[in-house]
Amino acid sequence: MSRPARRWAVVVAAGRGERFGGSTPKQYTLLLGRPALSWSLAALLASPAVDGVVVALAPRDRRWKRLAESRSPRISTCVGGDRREASVSNALLSLAARAHDDDWVIVHDAARPCLRREDLDKLIAATRRDPVGGLLAIPVPDTLKVNDGRGRSARTADRSVLWRALTPQIFRYGLLRRALALCVERERVVTDEASAVEALGLRPRLVQGRGDNIKLTTPADRVLAEAILRAGRRT
Ligand code: C5P
Repeated sequence: MSRPARRWAVVVAAGRGERFGGSTPKQYTLLLGRPALSWSLAALLASPAVDGVVVALAPRDRRWKRLAESRSPRISTCVGGDRREASVSNALLSLAARAHDDDWVIVHDAARPCLRREDLDKLIAATRRDPVGGLLAIPVPDTLKVNDGRGRSARTADRSVLWRALTPQIFRYGLLRRALALCVERERVVTDEASAVEALGLRPRLVQGRGDNIKLTTPADRVLAEAILRAGRRT
């Protein structure tokens, strides 16, 4: 007998974050005294629409066990891979016994600690009946230049059609597994799930998210993230 589709969240936390610097991987950097990964999990754990969460961890991760979330019965872990998409694939594989092909998978970067519950709800609502799935994204506000490879501006890109991809991104379990497997088969490098789905000839829905759902990339982002989280506590 068929059951209603469930929603699983995958949080990828297996990166080394080399551009972030320091000895602590960026997913564990403290923001207002709390590790970034805990913040990144917060909106997902607060949502009753999420049935379970898988966190993909680096092979020798010793920090996860120290987080309060490690004791949550709604969270399981798996070992991530050497690239982001391999970490997502491993997490999907770890769900194989529980997830059905038509279940939804919500993939989120551990390095995006400022995700608001309202953005997660918006993404889920906007894709509820979508045949493909979608992602949070934001129209690019700046004028964009194309570097000619020698440090000179060759031309100006048409920003009216350009959006910046954020996470979470939501796709059906079966579709996402197929899309990522095809990328591996074709040795195609993808930096998000939507790119893998696009490679199948499908068009993920763009759901406008908040610009303050930033990704920790450089040390300056830490200061920014703390300011965003502090402001979020007051709203
Ligand atoms: O390095 P970047 O900022 O693009 O990483 C985005 C997210 O993907 C981070 O949360 C990082 O921990 C995760 N990641 C991963 N496995 C990798 C590389 C990155 O889980 N091999």
